[in-house]
Amino acid sequence: MKSIVILISGRGSNMEAIVRAGIPGARIAAVISNRPGAEGLAFAAARDIATEVVDHTAYPDRERFDAALAEAIDRHTPDLVVLAGFMRVLTADFVRHYAGRLINIHPSLLPAFGGLHTHRRALEAGVRVHGATVHYVTPELDCGPIVVQAVVPVLPDDTEAELAARVLAEEHRIYPQAVRWIIAGRVRLDGARAEVLAAPEPNGFVN
Ligand code: GAR
Repeated sequence: MKSIVILISGRGSNMEAIVRAGIPGARIAAVISNRPGAEGLAFAAARDIATEVVDHTAYPDRERFDAALAEAIDRHTPDLVVLAGFMRVLTADFVRHYAGRLINIHPSLLPAFGGLHTHRRALEAGVRVHGATVHYVTPELDCGPIVVQAVVPVLPDDTEAELAARVLAEEHRIYPQAVRWIIAGRVRLDGARAEVLAAPEPNGFVN
């Protein structure tokens, strides 16, 4: 049985989608937040998932926060660390420590609109499609190998909230999917790219 640790900062709806979907071959060992008030912690605790807070405001700098965070994570010896609305920029040392086992979901079609306020920026840019990306985390922000993306239309009178809701519904679909693929050993990292391998057929053939 593989071990997954999920990091959140707030609502935790992506974490909830992953927990509800269930990941064959893995258990959610812990949900860790950098904010004591993160709403998602209650859902995880109600599901008997270990929860923990590593409050970034209690640390003098990024390096020491990341070291404490890594210590909390590593107690669960995770095969995969899942950033689910975890709103802290991580140090290169932290990212390297989890190379090949740290993923993130970002609310845009990367490489477009990395960073914050993605929905507002997509509306301002007048793009006709927008979406979400699951990617491996590398030291450069929002730039790692892409596992899966989902596309949604941008409608003429969309508000930021409407567009965000349309994207979020897709996030809840693709994030559990990506985690399942990775746990099943179906994602191969090849430099800057991630390749999703076909599912083996029950008879041993590959489709
Ligand atoms: C999600 O839309 C996620 O893509 C985004 O924050 C939201 C968290 O929602 N993440 C980022 O912007 C990362 N840079 P959730 O807490 O309900 O999962």
